[in-house]
Formats: sequence, structure tokens, C-alpha cells
Amino acid sequence: MRPWIVGTAACLVAAAAPAAAKLQDTYWWQLQKLDAPFHDIKHVPGTTADLEAACLQEPTCCGFNSDGYLKNCCTEACVSVSGTDLYVRQSAPQPAAPPSLVPLPTKFTRGTSSLAVNAAKFQFTVVEPAGSPPADLEAAFSRAAALMFLDPARAAPGAGALVELKVSVANVSAPLALGVDESYELDIPADGSAATLTAATLFGAYNGLTTLAQLVRFDYDSHSHVIQEAPWTIIDAPKFSWRGLLIDSSRHFEPVGAMKRYIDSMTLAKLNTVHWHITDEQAVPLESTTHPKLWNGAWSKRERYTHEDIRAVVEYARQRGVRVVPEVDTPGHEASWCVGYPEVCPSPSCPMPLRPDTNATFDLISGIFEEFAGQGRAAGSAPIFTDEYLHLGGDEVSTTCWEQNATIMAWLRSKNLTADGGYEYFVKRAHDLASAVGRRAVVWEEVWQHFGTALPKDTVIEAWLTTEAPPNATSHGYSVVWAVDGRWYLDHLDVSWESMYAQDPLAGITNPAQQALVVGGEGCMWGETVDNSDWMATVWPRAAAIAERLWSYDAVPQTAAGLAGVRSRLSWFRCAMNRWGFGAAPLDNLLARSAPSGPGSCYDQ
Ligand SMILES: *[C@@H]1O[C@H](CO)[C@@H](O)[C@H](O)[C@H]1NC(C)=O
Ligand SMILES: *[C@@H]1O[C@H](CO)[C@@H](O)[C@H](O)[C@H]1NC(C)=O
Ligand SMILES: *[C@@H]1O[C@H](CO)[C@@H](O)[C@H](O)[C@H]1NC(C)=O
Ligand SMILES: *[C@@H]1O[C@H](CO)[C@@H](O)[C@H](O)[C@H]1NC(C)=O
Ligand SMILES: *[C@@H]1O[C@H](CO)[C@@H](O)[C@H](O)[C@H]1NC(C)=O
Repeated sequence: MRPWIVGTAACLVAAAAPAAAKLQDTYWWQLQKLDAPFHDIKHVPGTTADLEAACLQEPTCCGFNSDGYLKNCCTEACVSVSGTDLYVRQSAPQPAAPPSLVPLPTKFTRGTSSLAVNAAKFQFTVVEPAGSPPADLEAAFSRAAALMFLDPARAAPGAGALVELKVSVANVSAPLALGVDESYELDIPADGSAATLTAATLFGAYNGLTTLAQLVRFDYDSHSHVIQEAPWTIIDAPKFSWRGLLIDSSRHFEPVGAMKRYIDSMTLAKLNTVHWHITDEQAVPLESTTHPKLWNGAWSKRERYTHEDIRAVVEYARQRGVRVVPEVDTPGHEASWCVGYPEVCPSPSCPMPLRPDTNATFDLISGIFEEFAGQGRAAGSAPIFTDEYLHLGGDEVSTTCWEQNATIMAWLRSKNLTADGGYEYFVKRAHDLASAVGRRAVVWEEVWQHFGTALPKDTVIEAWLTTEAPPNATSHGYSVVWAVDGRWYLDHLDVSWESMYAQDPLAGITNPAQQALVVGGEGCMWGETVDNSDWMATVWPRAAAIAERLWSYDAVPQTAAGLAGVRSRLSWFRCAMNRWGFGAAPLDNLLARSAPSGPGSCYDQ
């Protein structure tokens, strides 16, 4: 049995047997917010030094906690997350804490120098491509500078400070799409010579700039900006391509300015996909030119999106490397459509699912899709959503309202369909309408549960009901997005970041070909309990746990000690977000978005 944990990376290493340990070989490692419950020897009053001395006197003692309890030796399995810190006796110095970067880069080396950064003179130089830099890249430089230098007017440091980042992007015309190369390499010498950032695409370059912005801190002793632990070499790429956040603008309307701010916050943690749940049973804020009465189902006239509004959000996101995938959730969830088009609903009192027995329903859906893609009746207009993927919903369909309507039942019988067969017919027609405008369908898990391998092979399954769906669907060759309810649903206010971090999108999948079909996952911020007033504090910092899991999957061990390192980085990230002006809630709030428990600093001194 190996006693105690060691290290932030490799879990367990045997500590020297206490009796044999020499005092000068003894190091006490501090493991933040961990404890070894049920392994108390006794309580010892006094200082940390008193506890160290008392532990050395006890043959079975391997450490103590910050409440003053000496602890018996035990294996890693005895350690769990706690309000206290654990001090563990070891025979080597404690490794440096992981760097305060979120998500943690996949590979990095760092040094021990503090490198000053000259805010007043700092410049971004584009080495490749030659010629004038693309406007999107220049805009990204301005955004990075705003994050790096909170106060550029502060006194500039003298000689030896970093003044330049040289940027090379191999292909600036690669379009934003699922699976685009988002990797980058960032090298920061310690001597003040130019740092370099190389990336295959603009989107990789944006990620590198975000990392650089996280490395620069203001140092209040020297009154200058610094990068600690220089020199740095960071070689980084995400594990998963779909790192998403569902934003629901039906349950509460989310104004265009709020949508942009949410996207800004996502880029800080390298989230790259908005799943825009833009319509649901409570409200449809979406303009339609082919069906102008559709947005009669908005909450009010002022809580609506014009096509121009949506294009502006999509373009804003694209400039930041964020895809926007819209969801039109049929046949369930669309009672709001009956306000403008009662003919697509079974009846006013029993409005969902949408009627399968009238072409009016499919004409409305195809009108929306044609407008999204700038095709068919919308040919000649610019597309509204540009991404290849289109979410068709398909969840929570109860066919009771169909069964209560004689006309619908007669139609189903004429087609030799059961009510469930009518659901399949509907899903297939919606899929065909998406294909007709060149879009690839994403559906919620129920569609997979009902129709399984009868679904076209290009369908992407979003798993939300079970953790069994990803192994099952990928074994049949279907791509999967991981978003299991109660685990990555941010509307569950009582689910902690630790629990979100512990989820494994690849659980139960060992075959590499199948693993590759898990394109990623997303946190789902269903909108019943949020609007622009509390969205940031509800989503953050928990979404950073999801973001890091999806980016740094192989880089962070899922051990108690590994999690302790995550805690210290997420604590820092939450404070950094606050400093950048994004209202992320405290890390340890028991119900997401609760206020700090009392006065206190965000940062450790
Ligand atoms: C850049 O990427 C696009 C899209 O992947 C590709 O069509 C084009 O050939 C690439 N250009 C270069 C110079 O590699
Ligand atoms: C409804 O649409 C289907 C599929 O496009 C078509 O076959 C059918 O003739 C249409 N029915 C009516 C009444 O227009
Ligand atoms: C069933 O649908 C028909 C045709 O739209 C409609 O006239 C009728 O009111 C509905 N019946 C019920 C019981 O809702
Ligand atoms: C109707 O469906 C049933 C069950 O799927 C099938 O056995 C039967 O042959 C079908 N009848 C017609 C006329 O298609
Ligand atoms: C896999 O999914 C299919 C389709 O939903 C279902 O019929 C089957 O029972 C599932 N198998 C397992 C082992 O869960």
C-alpha cells in the first residue's frame, strides 16, 4: 500500500517511512482544499510548525490538516475535496503549482525569470502572411492588448522588457468550421527579445493571443506589467473541436449586446461554439421574411431579432473564432408558432407537437431554413447562419395532442403510421429540409432512442439523457456531442464545478475510431432562470470547468491532486474574469451565482 499522495501530476509516490525520515529531508506539501477524512490521529493545538513537530513524533503520522488534526498514512483514495488544506509529509520539495492558465495548455515548459512587458511600446508584428495584415487579425491584437494591459499608462519599464510579439499564420483564408486547426505555438524568451506566435489558421492565432493575455499580470511592486516564470514555450491544441455553450433566447430574450458579451466571455476560456436555442414554446423572437407572422409569438415587439441582428451576432462570433449553430426545435417545443400560424398546431389548447398532416408545417420550417442559408425563397439574400450544422431538436415529443385530433389520426392511418411513426416521419422530413439547404443535422438524444440506426449516417446525436448514448451511437458510426443533463446543464444551479470537471465525454469508449466520433460537448444554459442580469454569474466560473475538460482532456490527471491544481487555476481565472469586467461568481458558491460570503480579496497575496 502506497501512503499518501504526492504531486500534481503522477498521483502517488511513496513517502519515506516516518521513523527513518531525517528532519532535513522532510518537506511538507500543501494540498489546497483537500482532506483525508476518517484518518484522524488526534487534534494538536498550535501553529503549522507545532503540527509538523507533533507529526514527526507519531509513528503512523503522514500529515495534518489546517484544522489541526494529525492524519494516519493512507492511499490516494482516502483524499477528498474539502474546506481545509492538507499538509503531507514528503522527502522532496513540492513541485511548482500549475501555471495560472485556463484551459491548461497541452504542452508547456517554463522558467523562473520575471519578464517585464512594456505596455507603452508593445507591438504585434505580422511576419506571415507578408503584406498588410488581415483586418480580423488586427482587431484580435487590439482585443488582446486590452486584456493584457489594464492600464497602459502606468510607468513603462526600462531596458530588457518585452516589446514585441511576432505572429505567423500559415493560412489566413481557412474558414471557420468544425474541426478547423485551432492549434498554436507561443514562445516567450526571458531576455526581452521578441516573442513569437505561430498558428496554422487565424483561429489558432486567436487562441495564442488569449494565452498571452492570461500570462501578463500587473505587478504592483514594480508598477509594470510582467510575465512570470519566463521563458515560456507553449505548444497547444484542443482535444475536442466542439466546445460549446447553449444559449436559450426563448425563455428569456437575450438582447444582441448581451449575446456579444456572452461570446466575449466564451473566448476567454477558448469555448468556440454557440448553440443558439433561439425558439421554444414560450417565445419565438425570430424574424421570418417568408412567414412574417412567426415572430408574433415573441414575448413582445421589442424582444425580437431581425435578420440583421442575427447576422451581426454571427459575424461578431466568427471574428473571434466562435461558430454559431442555430436550433429550430421541432416537432415539440414550438407552441409559440401557433400565435402567428395556428394551422401548424393541433389545437389552441393542445398545441404541440406541430401537425405532421399539413404541408403548412413543413412550408414554415423550410422557409426558416431557406432564410438561414440564403437559398430557395431567400435566394439573393446573404445567409443568416453560416455554419454547416443546424440543430433540429426533436426532444420531448409526446404525441398525445395528435392522438386527440381525429383529422391527424385519420391522416396517420392513411399513411399506415402509428403516432410514433408520425414522429419519425416528421423528423425525417425536417432532416431532408436541412439537407436541401446544405446543412448537416444535429438532433437531441430522443431521436436516436426512437429511430436508432434508421437515422441518416450524417446525423449528429446530442446526448443529454444518458451516458450510454455516446458509446452506443458512436459504435454505429454516428457523431456525438456530449451534454448530459444534471452533469453539464448549467441551469442545475446546485451542480458544482468539481462535478462538471469530473465528467468524461469518452467514458465507456475505448476504440480510437469511436472516440474520434465524439466531436465534443457543451454546457447548456437553459433560460428559465437567467436573463442578461444574471447570466454571467450563473455560467461562470462553472463553464470554465467544462471548457478546460474539452480542451485539456489529456493534460490534467483526474486525481484528487490533479483537481487541487485545477482549483487553484479556476480560482485565479474567476478573479481574472472579474478584473476584465465579466461578473463570474465565486468558485465555491453552493448555488451558482450567489454573492461572496463576506468581505474578502479575490486574489491570494
Ligand atoms: C487555406 O485553407 C483553405 C480551406 O481549408 C484551403 O482551401 C486553401 O487551399 C488553403 N490555402 C493555403 C495557401 O494552404
Ligand atoms: C405536401 O408536400 C409533399 C412533399 O413535398 C407533396 O408530396 C404533397 O403533394 C404535398 N401535398 C399538398 C396537398 O400540397
Ligand atoms: C383537429 O384538427 C382540425 C383540423 O385543423 C381542427 O379543425 C379541429 O378543431 C381539431 N380538433 C380538435 C379536437 O382539436
Ligand atoms: C402497414 O404497416 C404494417 C406494420 O408496419 C405492415 O405490416 C403493413 O404491411 C402495412 N400496410 C400497408 C398497406 O403498407
Ligand atoms: C443502442 O441504441 C439503440 C437505438 O437507440 C437501442 O435500440 C439499443 O437498445 C441501444 N443499445 C444499448 C446497449 O443501449
